Amino acid sequence: PKEQTLAVIKPDTLEEHKDEIIEQVQDEGFTISQMKETVLSREMAEEFYKEHRGKPFFNQLVDYMCRGPCLMMILSKENAVEEWRAMMGPTDPVEAQEKAPDSLRARFAKDILENSVHGSSSQEQAMEKIKFVFGDIAVGPDGALQ
Ligand code: CMP
Repeated sequence: PKEQTLAVIKPDTLEEHKDEIIEQVQDEGFTISQMKETVLSREMAEEFYKEHRGKPFFNQLVDYMCRGPCLMMILSKENAVEEWRAMMGPTDPVEAQEKAPDSLRARFAKDILENSVHGSSSQEQAMEKIKFVFGDIAVGPDGALQ
């Protein structure tokens, strides 16, 4: 059965590597069920990352995410959550370069804050974030919109 995840290309990386990332996502067998470019308001970014509220990097994270348009994508594939996380690589690009040199973060992240891409960490979180970003939309078992 196909699964959905929310993938985000962050502002700096969207400006620099949009087409090659979209192409690679498709080459890896993901269906892009929905995609939109959005400039997040501070309020939206704070809500999107509410799990990180109170952390020392929270305000910088919100600044970073609001700097320009992000590309939000619903990706569908078997094990989409895990597969997209594997494509991203570890949060910290230093670790990514060591452990997953072909990953997106190894290639495009500038540092642990400006780490180029985001992905949901569980199916539950994916459903919550998809609803937050795209509203109530239905995605069928083949990854297509209903
Ligand atoms: P992301 O996977 O989108 O989830 C939370 C984000 O916070 C993370 O990517 C980074 O952009 C940022 N982040 C996580 N840990 C740190 C850290 N230790 N210092 C600065 N930024 C961080």
